[in-house]
This record gives sequence, C-alpha cells and structure tokens, in this order.
Amino acid sequence: MQTVLSGIRSTGNLHLGNYYGALRNFIKMQHDYNCYFFVADYHSLTTHPDPKLLHQNVKSVITEYLAAGLNPDLCTLYIQSDVPEIPELYLLLNMHAYMGELIKTPSFKEKARKQPENVNAGLLTYPVLMAVDILIHRADFVPVGKDQEQHIELTRKFGRRFNHFYGVEFFPEPQAFNFGTDLIKIPGLDGSGKMGKSEGNCIYLKDDPKTIEKKVKKALTDQGPTEPNQQKPEYIENLFTILRVVSAPEVVAHFEDQWNACNIRYGDLKKQLAEDIIAVVNPIRERILEIENNTDYLHRVTTMGAEKARESAKKTLSAAKEIMGFRTF
Ligand code: TRP
Repeated sequence: MQTVLSGIRSTGNLHLGNYYGALRNFIKMQHDYNCYFFVADYHSLTTHPDPKLLHQNVKSVITEYLAAGLNPDLCTLYIQSDVPEIPELYLLLNMHAYMGELIKTPSFKEKARKQPENVNAGLLTYPVLMAVDILIHRADFVPVGKDQEQHIELTRKFGRRFNHFYGVEFFPEPQAFNFGTDLIKIPGLDGSGKMGKSEGNCIYLKDDPKTIEKKVKKALTDQGPTEPNQQKPEYIENLFTILRVVSAPEVVAHFEDQWNACNIRYGDLKKQLAEDIIAVVNPIRERILEIENNTDYLHRVTTMGAEKARESAKKTLSAAKEIMGFRTF
C-alpha cells in the first residue's frame, strides 16, 4: 500500500476551509493508503508561540482531527515532537543542505520579509525539517497546497542528494498529491478569496450555532441585482460557493433562480446558509466538546500514534545512520 503523509502547523482551531480543503479527503484516504497525519509543533516554533498556547494548539488540532472523523486505528495520528527520530535525522540532513539554496527558497524570503526581527536559523532550515517529516516515513504522496510545492521539490532534492552522495537508492521521491476535483476551496465571508486564520474571516469547527448565525449574518452583501441574469459580484459568488458545498442542489437552484429574477432576499439566503453550515459543523463541534475533556482518550491516541510513527521512523533513521557510517561497539 502506498504511503501518504500530511503535516499541519499547530496554530489554533480548524475552520471550514481546513475541513473541506483537506480533512474530508484525509478521512476518505485513510481507507485506501497507509496514512501518517501529524501536528508539526516544531515547525510552529519559528514564530515563537506563547508557551501557554503551544500545548493548547496541539491539543486543538488532534481533538478536531478526531472529531471530524480521522480514525487512529486506520491512520497514524501523531505529534511531531513525540518522535525524537525526526530531530535526529534533521541534524544529519542539515549537513547536506546548503545555505545558498535555503536562503533563496521563496517561503524563507517571504517569512524573512514578514518577520524581519526574527529571522532565526529554524526558519532557514524549515524545509529540511519538513523534508525529514516526509522522508522519515519514506512517503510516496504528500497532499499540499500550491504554496508548499516548493518544499516537496526540495524534499526530492535532499533525498536524491543523499542517495547520490552515499551511492544508495535509499530515499524514494515523494510526489505532491493533487486532490483534483475533490479539492474544494472555501472563500471568506468578507468577500475575500480564501477562508483563513490570518484573514480573520473563518467559521471554526468549534463555533456554536449562534456564532455561525452571527458570522453569516454579517457577511458582505449589497442592494441586490438590478438586471435579470446579472453576473454576481465576488462577495455574493462566495456565498453561493459555500452554499453549493453545504446545501442540497435544490436549495442552490432556488437561490440561483431568485438571483436571476432579481428577487433574491439576502436575509433568506443567509438564514438557509447558516442552517446548512450548522448542520455540517455542529455534529463535529459536539464531538470536539466530548473529546477535549477526555484526557484519557487523547493520551491513548497520541501514545499509540507516537509508537506507530516511531516504529517506522526508527527503521529509516538507523538505516540512514548505517549508510552514513555510524556503527555501534
Ligand atoms: N509546512 C507545512 C505548512 O505550513 C506544514 C508541514 C510541516 C508539512 N511538515 C510537513 C506538510 C510535512 C506536509 C508534510 O502547511
């Protein structure tokens, strides 16, 4: 069976965009692939998170992954920092990663521009750590967005370089996994193209019905169309995009017809939209509330995940060290 791996930086709660963008596909994939899903808490350190929030953020991701439907018996769900083989292989691969190539990685340049007061070495070697995340399980596929493809390319480069340097066929070349038509991008409710934490326009999986209603009610609208079959402005199209994802086709058709006939009532549209979002989010939210108080369960899941991840990581690390010339007495 082929191996799929995905990491997510732990920066807080998951939103509808995370759910439809990746999570729902992961839930399907766990049946068809050998899946590793992990929380990249080491990666989140590049921005120096408040220690009081670090654990909370890891917990949120694990809890919300489980609540949405990841099954720890089907996949390997773990926390990066629970696998000490990862930082060890990172140290080793850093010896084959070059300043020049790291410094010109677009993601590094962008981060350095955004946080000029904190251009730390971890930021520079971020792609090495990410390559290790992938190579340590010898993953075949990595589902990532466009912005991460540069890192998959670097991962292949580091793996090939290792193979070439030591004259081995050791690390396989991972490919970016493309969800194709399964990839759904959820726009923001503020007229912006994308739902995202930094955009502050999210509906979180943890939002209660009242909060969702309020957020949807506040979504940007206008006076309504003035001519039949008029093209929708982006902020209205966005509402329809979400409607198409969460609502029944008849519902979408109904509001499309109203729009085209210039008698759409945004109040009704929003009411329906909120109701249908709540129908998706609320069962997940209820499971979140259950799981987050079940420390025992979270302990069991993360311990089992760490064990499974370490078993695979240990094999790769010891083989890599052997290749590099390490020997025990
Ligand atoms: N860099 C990824 C992001 O910011 C997170 C990540 C860390 C990751 N390690 C990974 C993703 C390994 C895929 C595979 O989204």
